[in-house]
Amino acid sequence: MIKNQWYVIMSSHEVRKGHLVGVTRFGEKLAIWRDNDGAVHCISDICCHRGASISHGKLLHEGHVAMCPFHGFEYDPTGRVIAIPAYGRKTPVPENFKVKSYKVYETADFIWLWYGDGEPTSNPKYFDDIDESLSYSEFSEVWNVHYSRAIENQLDPIHVPFVHYNTIGRGNRTVSDGPIVKWISDTMFYFYVFNRIDDGTPAKKPEELDINEASRVYLEFKFPNIWQNHIDEKIRVTAEFVPIDDEHTRIYLRFYVGFTGIKPIDKLIAILGTPFNKKVLHQDKAVVETQLPKKSELRMGENLVQGDAPILEYRKKREELKMLNNK
Ligand code: FES
Ligand SMILES: [Fe+2]
Repeated sequence: MIKNQWYVIMSSHEVRKGHLVGVTRFGEKLAIWRDNDGAVHCISDICCHRGASISHGKLLHEGHVAMCPFHGFEYDPTGRVIAIPAYGRKTPVPENFKVKSYKVYETADFIWLWYGDGEPTSNPKYFDDIDESLSYSEFSEVWNVHYSRAIENQLDPIHVPFVHYNTIGRGNRTVSDGPIVKWISDTMFYFYVFNRIDDGTPAKKPEELDINEASRVYLEFKFPNIWQNHIDEKIRVTAEFVPIDDEHTRIYLRFYVGFTGIKPIDKLIAILGTPFNKKVLHQDKAVVETQLPKKSELRMGENLVQGDAPILEYRKKREELKMLNNK
């Protein structure tokens, strides 16, 4: 994991007002809840008394307190125990009765968690060009992979004619000119894909290509874990790669549509398009889950090719961010 980053960890709709849920993220058990005012809170899901799952308990006081189901210890959103029923509710609680709490933030209908020891200097930002004018349909599923492999799959232009030979990769465009990778900011890049049929000429180098000749389609990756396919101004697919632990990743996939500008109709189009996107993602899942080693590294003895350029850029930056933040 790269530390000191805002990671998307859940979709907002998964945590309803007044509900407490337990999830595993970054290999840690987390208890997450939404209080009656709508704010989301997150603390460790391992009770500091004798280790029961707090998320199996319930919320008290308008959702501002989470109670462990085992012996009723009550936690505030900072992770402090504020009442030990066995001592009497009015008895002060010693300082050491506490669990870790996590900073969370909500934007773009996602819950984001600040992972790391440092302090966030700004709030997380989703993609600048996705706003209220687009409607979306979402699904999520768990892959048995480290999240780095799931990300790299979406940065890989040369798998498309093979893995997706009967869906998005129809047409046997097996030669991959470029691709061109363009860094837009320190932690976000676009890449442009120029796949074509093999006419006997070798793949062109990125410097022989012109972005303007690329189709309107380009892809975007933003550290640490969100990706967007700009299919068109009005059609996008996004994916969020949420680390569960070293061998599991929950992928959220959203299909954003803004064809008509009429919300219910755009939403319906998005819903109707989702089975196709699910089929494409399942084609990926079948292969990516076979990759070994499960986790990718910058130096791992793989024989990369030119078409793997976006993956290599991802690995280099990931390494750089880890060096900076994981001290
Ligand atoms: S284990 Fe949570 S209160 Fe005892
Ligand atoms: Fe794919």
